[in-house]
Amino acid sequence: MKLSYHRTVTFIARKDHLPQCFPRMTFRILIFVLVGAFIYPLTRCDKYPEDKGSAFQLFQDWKREHNKVYRNHVIESGKFKVFQENLKLINDLNVKFQGKTTFGLNHLADMSPREFSSTVLMPKRRAPVFEKERYVRSSLSGALPDSFDWTNQSKVTAVKDQGAAGSCWAFSAIGNIEGQWAMMGKPLTNFSVEQIVDCDGMEDVPKGEADCGVFGGWPFLAYQYVMKAGGLETWEDYWYCSGLGGAPGTCEVCPAPGYNTTLCGPPIPYCNMSQSCVTKLDVNKFHPGLKVASWKAIDQNETSIAEQLIKLGPLSVALNAELLQFYHHGIFDPPTFVCDPKNLDHAVLLVGYGSEKSIFGTKDYWKIKNSWGPKWGEKGYFRILRGQGKCGINTAVTSAVLAPN
Ligand SMILES: *[C@@H]1O[C@H](CO)[C@@H](O)[C@H](O)[C@H]1NC(C)=O
Ligand SMILES: *[C@@H]1O[C@H](CO)[C@@H](O)[C@H](O)[C@H]1NC(C)=O
Ligand SMILES: *[C@@H]1O[C@H](CO)[C@@H](O)[C@H](O)[C@H]1NC(C)=O
Ligand SMILES: *[C@@H]1O[C@H](CO)[C@@H](O)[C@H](O)[C@H]1NC(C)=O
Ligand SMILES: *[C@@H]1O[C@H](CO)[C@@H](O)[C@H](O)[C@H]1NC(C)=O
Repeated sequence: MKLSYHRTVTFIARKDHLPQCFPRMTFRILIFVLVGAFIYPLTRCDKYPEDKGSAFQLFQDWKREHNKVYRNHVIESGKFKVFQENLKLINDLNVKFQGKTTFGLNHLADMSPREFSSTVLMPKRRAPVFEKERYVRSSLSGALPDSFDWTNQSKVTAVKDQGAAGSCWAFSAIGNIEGQWAMMGKPLTNFSVEQIVDCDGMEDVPKGEADCGVFGGWPFLAYQYVMKAGGLETWEDYWYCSGLGGAPGTCEVCPAPGYNTTLCGPPIPYCNMSQSCVTKLDVNKFHPGLKVASWKAIDQNETSIAEQLIKLGPLSVALNAELLQFYHHGIFDPPTFVCDPKNLDHAVLLVGYGSEKSIFGTKDYWKIKNSWGPKWGEKGYFRILRGQGKCGINTAVTSAVLAPN
């Protein structure tokens, strides 16, 4: 990865788990004004230790904090090497992003970016283009509010953790359906993500897309699965067990009925039928009244997206999330050549927007719910620059339409 706008930043070394960037003192801001922004950045950031001794100490603390237990010493020392590489990567990202976005250690720090990409993210692909009738028409009259947020209006459930599985698309679709249900005036309910992962083998052959369980999928196909299935169980009745990596309660997911090997690749080589959709799905437990009738898409205009966010509720979106592994805080604004908007590999839930004034000027952002646990990023959420098609965030915006009842 190469970033062109590298500048020298003064670091202070601290052992804290999360780096922070501080605005420099007033007299330094004066120097900034006199000397110019290009040679004197306005923030300084903490740096993780990179020497082996300190990194090892940090690794021990980190393992304790995240309850990491490895099967044997060989695996553990391999993980420590990865951890050490990640400390360097995080330090490097903090330099390159100059405190506008900060990066830090989190529960994903024992995965190399490559492993992260292949297990947590989905294979990279372009956003599908839908039939014209799918797209919602804009009917904007007057200005939109400066900021908006569904999270404090009982339309968004608690942040979940997908674990080591490429099931983000199911979390994104369920997040949207939970919002749609709440928008109908129903009590906010956690619906079953595992039902989608286990049971949804939908495909769109002309588009060359399919839902592939832990190997990725699309929210627009997940809505079609729920339409076809006729309902959804709640999270409590059909709880999430994919991607828990051998922890208690983990399941060995079988390919969903209809799983297309041509489009999805081979399923995992072992699976336990007693943990499959065929055994677990109980249509008698479908949540009363919840039916998906249809679904729609929103075009790439980010004003239209804001309009529909307010009108419809939280929306399913997708993006290129390669650089988000260690995101900690701030408005994510990478240059396009390190975040190709045509390489979508992660689906999430758009819940709000706003603008932030800071020493860097005013920046418009989207507020987005992720599925990497409540400790990741900004309490499980992240913000990304709004209005410039960052990382493809505006290219795959969809929502289910529920049947009235
Ligand atoms: C939600 O939060 C936003 C900003 O944080 C605020 O403007 C809005 O009034 C809040 N809404 C409710 C219903 O509390
Ligand atoms: C949803 O599940 C979370 C745990 O992930 C729980 O804390 C929360 O209370 C549940 N929300 C509802 C509305 O049931
Ligand atoms: C699976 O996908 C391939 C390639 O798109 C398609 O030709 C085939 O018909 C699909 N298989 C099934 C069983 O639908
Ligand atoms: C399959 O799953 C069931 C229920 O979770 C469990 O009791 C059983 O031991 C598993 N079988 C194998 C071969 O792992
Ligand atoms: C986006 O939509 C808004 C409102 O519908 C419109 O004013 C604006 O010109 C559109 N922007 C682009 C780039 O098409």
